[in-house]
Formats: sequence, structure tokens, C-alpha cells
Amino acid sequence: EKGGYEHFMLKEIFEQPKSIHDTMRGRLLVEEGIIKMAGIWDHLERFKNANRIIIIACGTSWHAGLIGEYLIEEFARIPVEVEYASEFRYRNPIITDKDVVIAISQSGETADTMAALKLAKERGAFIYGICNVVDSSIARITDAGSYTHAGPEIGVASTKAFTAQLTILSLIALKLGKHNGNLGNAEFMSLAAELSAIPKKIEEVLEATHELTQEIAKDFISATNFLYLGRGYNYPAALEGALKLKEISYIHAEGYPAAEMKHGPIALIDENMPIVIIAPKKGHYDKIVSNVQEIKARKGKVIAVVNKGDTQVKAMADYVIEIPETSECFSPIVASVPLQLLAYYIAVYRGANVDQPRNLAKSVTVE
Ligand code: M6R
Repeated sequence: EKGGYEHFMLKEIFEQPKSIHDTMRGRLLVEEGIIKMAGIWDHLERFKNANRIIIIACGTSWHAGLIGEYLIEEFARIPVEVEYASEFRYRNPIITDKDVVIAISQSGETADTMAALKLAKERGAFIYGICNVVDSSIARITDAGSYTHAGPEIGVASTKAFTAQLTILSLIALKLGKHNGNLGNAEFMSLAAELSAIPKKIEEVLEATHELTQEIAKDFISATNFLYLGRGYNYPAALEGALKLKEISYIHAEGYPAAEMKHGPIALIDENMPIVIIAPKKGHYDKIVSNVQEIKARKGKVIAVVNKGDTQVKAMADYVIEIPETSECFSPIVASVPLQLLAYYIAVYRGANVDQPRNLAKSVTVE
């Protein structure tokens, strides 16, 4: 059942080329320049006329939501808000029948997300689900939705469901942008081609970073803290990297937008602080270079995720993880994979139960 892997989590990390491919299959028709998604198509007017889209979720799915916000705002130019389901449901939020509420949930059973959706529905919003489990409670209550086709995710730490969620959100953003006229045909075509190339790029990343992340992990078994930094699309990827590490290795980790470092977390940096920094070429690269300089001036240990051929960050970093280049908007999908492996191996070397971390359940059906 673990297919020869030591843990479900590792198996699921390695399944990502397939799970992303399966999530796009039949939907992304690159040559025709079409994205087929019945849930969106059948309710296109609701989306086109939406005052705003509110994304609600918890945990890793909430991180996917943050990236969804960037995607939908950039390509469809519809205002998006992202909220923790637990906060949304308890604060009497303003929701109208002009709002579209998208719930993201791997299990489709998360109690807070379900309750937040019920509230949105009562107030007349159109509710849309992005779930991995077919016929789950959230999938059933929503007006429409798109399934991620990641297959069963057994490891408590979400990996392949996350990248499948990003795939669906990318498809939705491109489709809405195309149909509401904000995304020109040439740009649509090139993004569609780039998205379809992601599974291949993830295969390359798995191949190139599997051993490397083990080597790096060995040096951080005794770490007590980690910082994860990224900018733009990769800021939520930094949050997700930190969550993976803390939930399975029990090392405290925080994710931050890199530019926020100087507003507080920089005080933590000394020679004992490992800092994972996501620094692909596209997306505020120069700014990230200066962030790395600031960290090195304080002797922090930099683990940098960079594009192949990088020179500037590479010259300063203590550890370098190279990933292939892609469009900035899809870079979190690619960058997340080595961070999953790094968290996995640090946890394994610490003797932790990675598939069933202490105190955690696969789906949180209590409040
Ligand atoms: O099933 P859901 O996507 O609704 O679950 C949400 C969170 O409970 C979940 O992502 C949790 O944070 C994971 N353990 C993260 O790896």
C-alpha cells in the first residue's frame, strides 16, 4: 500500500507529477486553448458578476487559498479575500448574494470550513467547493465545484492535495481571466503551456533534490527554530514550508513574507538560525538578494531554493536547492516539493512518526 516507500508521506510527495497531471487531465486542453471546468462554465455569470470572491479554508488549504488570491486577482481581476474558516464563521462577516465563496478542503469534512460555508449559503452567497474527497460533506453542500484528483492522501501532512489545489486554482484563474477579457489570448496560451509542463518539472525536482534534501536535513536535526521566507506568490509557499516542518518534526518554524523580516523576525537571526528562502528568478529577485545579504550579515544559515543557473543568491547561500524555471504564478507548485522533502527527512532523522504526528488528525471534524 505504501508502494515500496517508507511512509505514505514520501509516497504522496513522489506521486505529485501524476496527481497534478490527473487534476489537469480533460480540463486543460493546451492545443485548443481551452480550459474545461463545468463547475465554472455552468455558473460563469455568477463569477463574472461577483463583487468579490471569498476563499475560506484551514491549514494547508488556507495556504493554497492565499496563492489562489494572487492568481485570481492577477488574471481575472476579481477582488479576493482569504479567511480562516474558523475566523470567518464567528465574526458575523459581510456576505451578500453578489459574493462567491470558495471553500478549499482536502477531506471535505473540516468542521470549521463546513460551518463557514453554511453561513455563507444562508446569506445568499454562491458557494463553490474545491475538495479532494468525492462526495464529502463539503462537496455535497456546495452549489458547484471542482475536484482535485490527487487520489487518497493518507499522510496527515498534506502534500499532493496542496499542489493539486494550486493546480485547480490556476485553472480557475486562467479560465475566468480568459472569459472576462482580462487575459489576452497570447498570454493565456503561454500560461496554459507552462502549466501543462509542471508535472514534468516536478519529476525533475524529485530526481534532483531527493538526495540533496537528505544531506541538508542531516545538518539540522538539532535545530530548534526555522524561518521560511518568500515574496509574492512564494510568500504562502514559505508559510506552507514552515507548517510542514513544524507539524511533522516538531521544530518550531515560522513563515514570513521576506520583506517583513526587518519588521521583527530579523532580531532572531544569528548563527544558529536556519532560514529557508525561496528565491526564483521571476518575482522580486533583486529584493530577495538584499534579504539574503541582510541574513548573511547576521550569520544566519541560508538554505536557498533558486532557479537553475542562479549566481547571486547561490554565491551567498550555505545550501542551494535548484529548481527549474517556470512562470512566477506557478513557481510555488515547484518550490513546495523540495520543502516537503526537507521537512520529511528532518522529521525522519529525528525519529518522528511522520504519517501520524502527535496531536494531529487527518481531518479535523471537531471545532
Ligand atoms: O481537509 P482540509 O483540507 O480541510 O484540512 C485542513 C487542515 O486541517 C489541513 O490542511 C492541515 O493543516 C494539514 N495537517 C496540513 O498538513
